[in-house]
Amino acid sequence: MTRKRKSIHGQWSSRWVFVLAATGSAVGLGNIWRFPYMTGTNGGGAFVCVYILCVLLVAIPIMMAEIMLGRRGRQSPINTMQALAEEESLSSAWRYLGWMGVVAGFMILSFYSVVAGWTIDYIIRAGSGIFTISSDIEIAGYFDALLASPERLLVIHTIFMALTVIVVSMGVRSGLERAVKFMMPALFILLIIMVGYAMSTTGFSRGLSYMFYPDFSKISAAGVLAAMGQAFFSLSLGMGAIMMYGSYLPEKASIAKTTFMIAAADTLVAILAGVAIFPLVFAYGLEPDKGPGLIFITLPIAFGKMPYGEFFGTLFFILLLFAAWTSSISLLEPAVAWLVENRGMRRPRASALAGLIAWILGIGSLLSFNRWADYKLFGKTWFDMMDYLTSNIMLPLGGLLLAIFAAWLMKRQSCVDELGMGDGIAYKCWYFTVRYIAPVGVLIIFLQAIGIF
Ligand code: PHE
Repeated sequence: MTRKRKSIHGQWSSRWVFVLAATGSAVGLGNIWRFPYMTGTNGGGAFVCVYILCVLLVAIPIMMAEIMLGRRGRQSPINTMQALAEEESLSSAWRYLGWMGVVAGFMILSFYSVVAGWTIDYIIRAGSGIFTISSDIEIAGYFDALLASPERLLVIHTIFMALTVIVVSMGVRSGLERAVKFMMPALFILLIIMVGYAMSTTGFSRGLSYMFYPDFSKISAAGVLAAMGQAFFSLSLGMGAIMMYGSYLPEKASIAKTTFMIAAADTLVAILAGVAIFPLVFAYGLEPDKGPGLIFITLPIAFGKMPYGEFFGTLFFILLLFAAWTSSISLLEPAVAWLVENRGMRRPRASALAGLIAWILGIGSLLSFNRWADYKLFGKTWFDMMDYLTSNIMLPLGGLLLAIFAAWLMKRQSCVDELGMGDGIAYKCWYFTVRYIAPVGVLIIFLQAIGIF
């Protein structure tokens, strides 16, 4: 038996707070902005089907592994990987897996903050009542006009990054905990209201069949990769965010139960967002494959038409901003914890420095919609590239390596001890999935995407 470590950054006050915080990390723009538009650009129902399979067979087992490693290491992902590798007499090069996560975190946060900035702009617009008096075409035009203005994008990107830095600099207990406690339930309720509205529109049945009727001829190998990437992105996996949060988890809490709760809540929110949005797309004669602007065009049209739309619209974008906020703090936390542990920095300084790096990277993303729109690599702008590299490559690769570390290299007894669910059938199921199914699944999808399989 190894001695139990303690985190120098503190601990969640209970298992519930961990569930809330991890759900706060998971539920964000990924569910409400990215999931519907990815579904729309990758073949509808077939994408949703592959996505759910990836969550069940790949993401959930890897999430348990990631939380387990985090709780055992109790440090930033870089130091955790190093410490666990030493403990298991493995190469200390495993710490580079932690590094890849930190880099992925910066890359994701850089474009995440730009999109979160859009929600700030939309809070103000919805509050001004402009959607009520605008035509559908005008509403679509607002989004294009926002993207065309680098100055406006810079202001809102800066505001969002500052919000993130502020919460992270306050630390685990006072910062992160407080932010998530009531936002999640509120967002949930509002989504249900939106689904209720979608049910009253003429597009409801078409929207539902678009989302749930899988036509596998509509999904390509790239679409399957995108579905897996979406599962990693949405559950915050493969880059150390969940590992970091796991490092604050109290000793006794059950990792399996908490993982299922987080994954269920995350998937439910994504599905609800889809059920709220696709009926509107069809009711208003829009195209589902509009790309990143999907919710910023469909929802404002709906808010413009529905009773009390001004109120609901403003509230919706406020809640979306909060959902993005509780996710963005988890993107920054691993880097900040490392700066505190290894560079002896104080939290506020470390947060500001890490935030600055992500902010600078983000400028590339906001320029991709205007001045740099024509600079492309493999047909992708900077924004697309950051998104693609992280979601479709770095996160699944990180998850694959974590699965290999936990299920192939760590001593079986170490896993049994740390998961604390005994050595029965539940444990064996997890072990089998994380050892065989998840890694093989990720590999096949990778190989298939590059045309080898
Ligand atoms: N899961 C978050 C979302 O869905 C994004 C995220 C990805 C957060 C990776 C942390 C790590 O919005």
